[in-house]
Amino acid sequence: MKSSLFGVLPDGSTVEEYTLQSGKIACKIITYGGILRSLTVPNECGDPVDVVLGFDSLEDYQKQDKYIGALIGRYANRIGRSEFTLGEQTYSLCSNDGQNHLHGGLCGFDKQVWSVKAAADDMLELTLHSPDGQEGYPGNLQVNVTYRLVDQSLVISYSAVSDRDTLCNLTNHAYFNLSGHDSGIVDDHTINICADYYTPTDKQSIPVGLIQAVDDTPMDMRAPIRIGDNVNSAYEQIHWAGGYDHNWVISGEIGDLRLAAVAHSSDTGITMKTHTTQPSIQFYTGNYLDGCPIGKNGAKYGKRSGFCLETQCYPDAPHHTNFPPAMIKASEVYHHVTVYSFG
Ligand code: BGC
Repeated sequence: MKSSLFGVLPDGSTVEEYTLQSGKIACKIITYGGILRSLTVPNECGDPVDVVLGFDSLEDYQKQDKYIGALIGRYANRIGRSEFTLGEQTYSLCSNDGQNHLHGGLCGFDKQVWSVKAAADDMLELTLHSPDGQEGYPGNLQVNVTYRLVDQSLVISYSAVSDRDTLCNLTNHAYFNLSGHDSGIVDDHTINICADYYTPTDKQSIPVGLIQAVDDTPMDMRAPIRIGDNVNSAYEQIHWAGGYDHNWVISGEIGDLRLAAVAHSSDTGITMKTHTTQPSIQFYTGNYLDGCPIGKNGAKYGKRSGFCLETQCYPDAPHHTNFPPAMIKASEVYHHVTVYSFG
C-alpha cells in the first residue's frame, strides 16, 4: 500500500492519499471526505481505465460543490424543510438546497478529514467521530468505512454507532463514467435497475410519499435502457430533475446483498454491477455538473459526464411513516455493504 501527502487544509491539517491495488483493479482514496479519487479497472483489451471523476488538487476538491467521490453523512440525500422529529424532540438542520437539507449539511462527512484506522495493499479503513449536535444531528456518532478491493470489485462497508437515538444514512457519491472519467457524456451507457418501484418527488426532489410502480414509465429500467434515450424525456419526473435523479426501491430483502443495478459502456466493454444491502438506490445522471473546476488531467466534467449510483435509505424517510426508517437507536450498530464489481 502506498500513501503520500495529498495536500494541506487552510487550518494546517494534512490530507493523505492511499493507493490500493489488487490484481488489475486499483484505487486512490484521500482522507479529506474519504473521497474515492480514482478507480482503475481493465477494459476489454486489458488496458486500465479510470472510471470515476475526480480532481488533481485538494484546493479543487474544496472548490467543487458536487460531492464528487465523497463519503456522505449523516444523511445522504434530502430531508425536507430541514427539520425532523425523533421522539418528543424536533431538530433543525441547515438548509443547503433551497429550503431543504442535502447530504448532511454545510460541513457534512464529505468535508471532514477522516482518520486511518487500518491500511493494507488492498484495503483502507477510515474512521470519523461526529460530535453530538454536529450539523444539528443528535448523538455522538462513531463512523467506520472500509474500502476493500476484492477480485474485480470495490467493496465499501459502512458501520456507525451513536450514544443517542439519531438518523444515519451513509453513502458514497462517486460519479462513474465507464468509458473513462475524461470521455464526455454518459448517454451511450446502458443501465438497468432492479426495482419494481421508485419514490416520485416534487419539483424540489423531495419525495411526495408514494412508492410507485415503474410500469409503463421511463422509470422502468428492469431491462437495460440507453441513458441518452430517456434522460431528456418529457415525463414530468425526469423533466423536473433535468434527467434522472430519483430513488429506486431495490427488489428483494433489505439487508441481503442483492443486485441493484448494472451499467455498461460499449466503448470500453466495461460492465459495472452494483450490489448492496441497502433499501434503495439513487440513480443520478450528473444533471448539475457544470465543468467547474477542471478535473483530473484537464478533464472537463460538464452536465452528464458521469452518473451516480448512491445506495441509501429512502430520501426524506423521517417524514414518511410508509418508508423504511432511517434512524438508529442509541448503541445500535448501523451497518451496510455496497459492492461495485467490474467485468
Ligand atoms: C442528488 C442531486 C444533487 C447531487 C449533488 C445527488 O445525490 O440526488 O439532486 O444535486 O447529489 O451533487
